Amino acid sequence: MIGRLNHVAIAVPDLNAAAEQYRSVLCAKVGAPQDEPDHGVTVIFIELPNTKIELLYPLGEDSPIKGFLEKNPAGGIHHICYEVDDILAARDRLKASGARVLGSGEPKIGAHGKPVLFLHPKDFQGTLVELEQV
Ligand code: CO
Repeated sequence: MIGRLNHVAIAVPDLNAAAEQYRSVLCAKVGAPQDEPDHGVTVIFIELPNTKIELLYPLGEDSPIKGFLEKNPAGGIHHICYEVDDILAARDRLKASGARVLGSGEPKIGAHGKPVLFLHPKDFQGTLVELEQV
């Protein structure tokens, strides 16, 4: 069911410092910051040859990243995103297997303008999993 690794998202306490490190130390192709008010984050996309890294920084008071950074003040991997062909079919199959889908269970439009869902980390080895329909 799952396809390519679409991205790894890393929550960071200092977005500009993290972007500069990826640009100048790791010599990666680093994009400009983008505010995603619907998701409570500011994102910087880093393009790698085989996948992407997303640097996440809280946007707004009820950002989902805020609590994560309080627990992980140095930052850390927040979620990984797998591609699927049909997000509703994937969701229904996962629910039938007992996995919990976060939120309303209906796909939201993610940072790339495509439908996404998140799966409960306790059902996937302690890792928050995002599914994106491509
Ligand atoms: Co993501």
